[in-house]
Amino acid sequence: MALQRPKGTQDHLPGGSPKLSLDVSASAFRHVTDIAQRVLERAGAAFIATPIFEEAELVTRGVGGSTDIVRKEMFRVYYAGDHGGFVLRPEGTAGIVRAYIQNGLKQMPSPLKLWTHGPIFRAENVQKGRLRQFHQVDYEVIGSSDALVDAETIWLMVEVVRELGLSGVGVKLGSIGDPADRETYNGYLRGVFAPHVEQLSDDSRDRLTRNPMRILDSKSATDQGLIAELAVRPMLDFLGEDAAGHFGQVRAYLDAWGVAYEVDPSIVRGLDYYRRTAWELHHANIGAKSALGGGGRYDGLAAELGGPQTPGIGWAFGIERILIALEAEGIELPPSPGPLIYIAALDAEYVGLAAKAALSLRSQVRAEFGYKPQKPGNAFREGERRGAVYTALIGSDEAATDTLAVKHLGTGEQESVRLEELAGFLTPDS
Ligand code: HAM
Repeated sequence: MALQRPKGTQDHLPGGSPKLSLDVSASAFRHVTDIAQRVLERAGAAFIATPIFEEAELVTRGVGGSTDIVRKEMFRVYYAGDHGGFVLRPEGTAGIVRAYIQNGLKQMPSPLKLWTHGPIFRAENVQKGRLRQFHQVDYEVIGSSDALVDAETIWLMVEVVRELGLSGVGVKLGSIGDPADRETYNGYLRGVFAPHVEQLSDDSRDRLTRNPMRILDSKSATDQGLIAELAVRPMLDFLGEDAAGHFGQVRAYLDAWGVAYEVDPSIVRGLDYYRRTAWELHHANIGAKSALGGGGRYDGLAAELGGPQTPGIGWAFGIERILIALEAEGIELPPSPGPLIYIAALDAEYVGLAAKAALSLRSQVRAEFGYKPQKPGNAFREGERRGAVYTALIGSDEAATDTLAVKHLGTGEQESVRLEELAGFLTPDS
């Protein structure tokens, strides 16, 4: 049997391929990153690229030792039979903040807005929209703790999704407070769950000692049943004065700008670096348990990684999940353009000429040529198949007169055009 791709990975396929639907279309994938680039760069974000493998310690310290990501979902990197203590990145933020510290990006205008997209790895149970290699668009703002930055950051995430044409999206907004608020909340949770420890899943019993808040994030149905039965109070009830004030300011900006959101008092997120504002973007077709995207403030992360205290906030969405949502909403993407011209030789001896004509056009337009001689009917069909606007033929008459027989495939009009006038003759819009 021919080899297959690993479970939990996906091929993104070129236009015209037999198994193409929008959720595996490479051009839809690129459409998503193009729109993100446009929206984010208009806001002043600069592109950054960091390694896809990093020190395991970066992830353990950044994302947090009690998270499912670190405890269960890490891909370790082995090379030359040796384990170098590296992992494939399970998210982008820790690597970007490391790069910010390591490369002295503090010198740049502050706050610094950065964006990237690329592959992310989590060894999860595979299902629709839950992959082991997926891709994120990631946006980070480093250097400000101002609530205005939180609101702009959320606005930008909503704007990307709006520009993609998605309508069924909702923002769930919460706050997970400052570290002291979380301590208080964890104390409360210990008190609530301790008498019911027998009913908790094994994982959650462990969470009860390490980080009780992670119980709320549990994927176990019995844990979730117990949380409902005990009417566990949400994190939002435990915000201290500062975090509550900050949350109020973020909401006031969003309200003033008309950004729709729903306050979700129980938002916890799956990563430990968050402080204060945290949110998720949901979509009906992705399911209640999984988000299209998520983000939050991480003012303690840089210091946790050994750098100076530096506030930050950001978000990421899963490109594959965006593609599922686009497909589900029946959104039509702009068709990928074919060549402006396809040039075919009628005889083997003119193939080089056809190639030369195409090559000379390529500094200006997309031009393709046939590698083998073709009969006129086949050449026109080939041009159509490739989505060309024009198809041109070179036979003995054309070769003798330095011309091409150029046909506009839409109107059917055919003209003899001199080679040196070809570029000027072709009009992309006609
Ligand atoms: P996250 O919520 O873990 O946040 O992931 C962000 C998004 O990545 C999710 O909402 C989802 O769309 C996508 N995603 C996560 N896991 C999978 C999976 N197994 N298969 C497909 N898609 C998935 C972060 O990663 C944070 N770094 C976001 C952030 C940036 N916070 C601050 N700055």
